[in-house]
Amino acid sequence: MACTCVVGLQWGDEAKGKIVDLLTADHHIVVRYNGGANAGHTIVKNGKTYKLSLLPTGILTPHMQAVIGNGLVVNPVRFLEEVTNLRDAGIAVGANLVVSDHAHLIFPYHMEEERLTEQGAASAIGTTGRGIGPCYQDKVSRSNGIRVGELLHPEHLRERLHAIVPRKNQALAAFSADAKRFDADALCDEYLGYAATMRPHIQDTGRLLRQALKAGKNLLFEGAQGSLLDVDHGTYPYVTSSNSSTAGIWSGSGVPARNLSRIIGVIKAYTSRVGRGPFPTELDDGPTGIGATIRKIGREVGTVTGRPRRCGWLDLVAVRYSAALGGVDEVTIMLLDVLSTLDEIKICTAYEIDAQRTTDFPGDAFLLDRCKPIYETLPGWKQDISAARTPSDLPAAARRYVDRIAALVELPVSIVSVGPDREQTIPMM
Ligand code: IMP
Repeated sequence: MACTCVVGLQWGDEAKGKIVDLLTADHHIVVRYNGGANAGHTIVKNGKTYKLSLLPTGILTPHMQAVIGNGLVVNPVRFLEEVTNLRDAGIAVGANLVVSDHAHLIFPYHMEEERLTEQGAASAIGTTGRGIGPCYQDKVSRSNGIRVGELLHPEHLRERLHAIVPRKNQALAAFSADAKRFDADALCDEYLGYAATMRPHIQDTGRLLRQALKAGKNLLFEGAQGSLLDVDHGTYPYVTSSNSSTAGIWSGSGVPARNLSRIIGVIKAYTSRVGRGPFPTELDDGPTGIGATIRKIGREVGTVTGRPRRCGWLDLVAVRYSAALGGVDEVTIMLLDVLSTLDEIKICTAYEIDAQRTTDFPGDAFLLDRCKPIYETLPGWKQDISAARTPSDLPAAARRYVDRIAALVELPVSIVSVGPDREQTIPMM
């Protein structure tokens, strides 16, 4: 029995989907445990590009059972949209997709709440606008949260919406005169329509997963976002609203963390971030600078929102922190090929804060904001590496960069990726 987790060690978009795809052959079930349709997963498979936000990317592999765990917030519109898109692309979706009856439902009023709190606010987080934060708020409030399983009980759902929607309308109107208003019956009818299609997929997924473990099946946990966006352990308040580090696995799937046998931490060869928040190694060096070069070559544009991603040097203070937090066993380095045109490459090995040098990642965003990166500089390799398939195909400078990362993170590097295709992968161990 194997229980593997693929988790991002930066601020998301580490190309985790490719690693999940490489691992599917050895696993039976793929599980998402956090977030919602805020995740942007782009997978290139057999020459086709698939974009998924809510469904686990493992669903692209025919033998895999895909699970949307209880820790997610589910917008049925997105769910059905992704199912339709997959079917249109020839991917079978039926009993191979299950969604937890305990996952929470996103309603249009969540998107409206998010729009009103984010637009023009000095305190804006720069969210994806998918209603994620407000839905998690309702989950924790208890009185306003509605779970996927409630879709299967029409009278009960109508009663709940009749209690909740007037409260929402009142709160939204108090927030802004131009706030949208919602009608409980119309929402109920709309969601009962979705329920008819979702019904066969809705299950107690915690039980399903624990039974699968007992039966000796191999589970693959697919983290969404990155560990630095974790609501408890990330750069709060510039985080998402779920536990996106491995901390979310137990609560978000119902599988006890003691079962995890392999934790793979995924990093890019550099750092990117979308949305607001501190980013010590950001290269904000103009339209022809290195930051812009990385953005262009790495096609660093948000999958969900289309926003250009902020880019910068690899921050190993941050990575060491999230690797330790996540109990990571090995690291994979993605998009190494993106750095191939650079003369020299920097790695942040420490910060300076208030004239003190530290290798500790600060727990608060306002402190991280004051940290200045201390860099080590390595020579670039200045040649195309996208055809490399073994460690010895890599130029010496690229190998040196990889070895230095392994030494500084104090973990083995198991895979280096040199392009989006499955074949553009170098097993290092
Ligand atoms: P939310 O998850 O939409 O509430 O957004 C909160 C923060 O997390 C924002 O900075 C988003 O840009 C960021 N975020 C959410 N999902 C992802 C992701 O999949 N990749 C990268 N950043 C994300």
